[in-house]
This record gives sequence, structure tokens and C-alpha cells, in this order.
Amino acid sequence: MKGYRVWAEIDLSLLRDNIYNLKKHLNGETKLMAVVKADAYGHGAVAISNFCINNGCDYLGVGDSTEALELRDSGVVAPILVLGAVIEEELPLLISNNIELAVHSKDLLTKIDEESKKQNKRASVHLKIDTGLHRFGISPQNCEGIVETISKYSNIRIKGIFSHFASAYRDIERTKEQLNTFMQTVTKTCKKYNLKDIMIHIANSGGAVALQNSQQNMIRSGGALYGLIGNNEFKQILSLKTQVTYLKKVYKNSLVGYDGTFKCEKDTLLAICPVGYNDGIPTCYANSFEAHINGQKSQFAGKVAMDYITLDVSNIRDITVGQEVVIYDRQHNNIFDVAKKYNLNRYEITCTLSKRVKRVYIEYENETIKRFIKSQKYYHPKKNGSRKTALTP
Ligand SMILES: Cc1ncc(COP(=O)(O)O)c(C=O)c1O
Repeated sequence: MKGYRVWAEIDLSLLRDNIYNLKKHLNGETKLMAVVKADAYGHGAVAISNFCINNGCDYLGVGDSTEALELRDSGVVAPILVLGAVIEEELPLLISNNIELAVHSKDLLTKIDEESKKQNKRASVHLKIDTGLHRFGISPQNCEGIVETISKYSNIRIKGIFSHFASAYRDIERTKEQLNTFMQTVTKTCKKYNLKDIMIHIANSGGAVALQNSQQNMIRSGGALYGLIGNNEFKQILSLKTQVTYLKKVYKNSLVGYDGTFKCEKDTLLAICPVGYNDGIPTCYANSFEAHINGQKSQFAGKVAMDYITLDVSNIRDITVGQEVVIYDRQHNNIFDVAKKYNLNRYEITCTLSKRVKRVYIEYENETIKRFIKSQKYYHPKKNGSRKTALTP
């Protein structure tokens, strides 16, 4: 793509296909939360959120308050849940923007109630139950106690109860145990306190696909939407590309890059490309990773630097400055496979693409899928710079 040094090409038509394919797994009434934390796993939260909401997703899940407010500020009015912890100072803006909050303990309840009262609002909260991940969350035996406490606060509404699987992609037995604990806790609590019409959610992408009864009335998906879970039904939507900015001939025995870790076995043609570890290229790719130029493989020569990589392009036919270089795409260096090979977390690869990497969105029409997906439910573009009031379904 002319004009960019390094860019992530994000194929929204594939995102639409992934939503469609995921929905085919869902029980009829199950809602779909698009997990867009960490800038939508590096894909760009605002663009991805708008697209997901306009193409059949019902909810957005973010990691923290800043991410929630970024979406509201950009005009997203769909329901947003902060999946992680919030701090007291963040409450006024979160409540005024109708951001839903995860409750992990009794700690902030009084503050949430007071702030909501001040704003003449009722905050919506989702109780997070720790069923085995042992990070945040209320232990199952304390769930009823929290509901009892919340029932005394007139400005807090329990909108949901949720939990999170610890190993949905690797340990199905452990996942089933978590689901069991969760469902027992939910059933008992809802019965005792007559909680009706609340959102029950535990499944991530892996859980939703592997265990249909984990879906309940909402699933939270990131990996399947971005095509990063190694399942062919869900296609990787991101390609990372750069271009050759400089070509250089060096003699046999030259040492390339910092610390000279690549020694040229023969006279060698090198291509310098403007992407480095500051853009999200892992340093472990040194002297090993193969980029693709016109479908031909080209090995990293030397260490990955902050701003540049160097490729051995001696064998590439018709190489020129300006030529496109593919670091990842679906055919060459699928991110799931690369992560396995280099012992990286597959999400880490996209999450660490820095802001220097331009996100470029492309989309092809697929009318069949478009018709299937319910559309335009929550998203209304921002008008005159004003912040839209969030919808509460
Ligand atoms: C609380 C929570 N729910 C859902 C997800 C989505 O998981 P996945 O990407 O496996 O679909 C995440 C992601 O880490 C998460 O933290």
C-alpha cells in the first residue's frame, strides 16, 4: 500500500464472516459480546467496535475505564462492560456514560451507589464470580452475601453474573468444572433473590465452541472474531505489511546488524524495512523469521532493531525499493502458527503492534451474510462533536 512505512491491513469482510460463523454455533437467544479490550487485540477498538455492533454483536467488553470512555467519546452507544477492575476516581465518568461495571468484591459498592445517587442514575453491574481462574472475583460461597448487600443499595442494579474460563482451549475437564460451579452458584443465587432477566455469561470463544451449554444468554468473544484461535472456521483478519526502503550489497563475511549476529556466507543483497521491535516485531525473530516478498521467502538477517529489520533478499527476483513485504498474513506466517513456533502468546503478537503501525481497513461485500446479520442496532455516528447518550438495553 503506497504511502505507509508499516501497516496492518484488517479485512472487515473476514470479521463479518467470523461473526456469522460464530453465530451459527450459538443457541437462538444467546447474545454476542465482542471483546475489544487492548485496542481490540491491536486491531483498533473504535473501528472494530462499530463494525461488530453494526454486524450482529450486541455488547462490547473492554479491559478498563479508559477503553470504555474512548468508545463513548467516539460515538459508540452500544452497551459496554468493563471486564476488569475500576478505581474509585473513575466512577463519575463511567456512571455518567452508562458504562456497565464488573463487581469483584464489596469494596466499591458504597461509592458506586453514592455516585449514582448524585447523578440520579442507577449503575448496572455484573457480578464476577471466581470459579477457578483465581484472579479477580467473588468466591462462589460469597455470591449471595454480595447480592444481599447490593439489594440495600437503591442505585445499583444487578444486570449480570459472569465468570471467566481459565483454560478453555486446553483443558475441557477443568472448563466443565468451572461451568458447573458457575451454574450452581447462579441458579442458587437467582432463586433465592428472585433475580430475573439478568445476563449470565462465562464462555469465551473457545468455551462457546467446545461446550455449547456454556453459552447461557451471552458469550464474550475476541479470539474467534479476530481469527486467532487456530480453528479454520475463523479466519485471521489482520495482515502486517511493510516495504523495502533501502537495498544494500555487502561482501562475503560481513556481519549484519547490532552485535553482528548474522554473517554473510557469500556476497549478499540486504533489504532494510522500517519496522522494528517498537512496532511489535518480537526480538526472538532474529536470524530466523521469514518474511514474504512476491510470495518468495526472505530471512531476517541479524537482530530486530527498534525501528528496522534487515532481510536477506539475495534470492528474491526483481527486488526494488518500495516493494511490499509481508510479515504476517493468512497464507504466509499465520499468526497462530507463528506464535506456536516462537512460543509466544498469539494475542501478544497483535496486541503489541504499536500506534506507529497504521491500521488500514478493507471490506468486500457479501450480501448473503449481510442479510443474515441483524444490523444498525446500537451504533449512531457522533454528531457535532457531542457525546451521544448510551443505550441501555
Ligand atoms: C473476561 C474475558 N472474557 C472474554 C475474553 C475473550 O476471550 P477469547 O479471546 O478467548 O474469546 C477475554 C479475553 O481475554 C476476557 O478477559
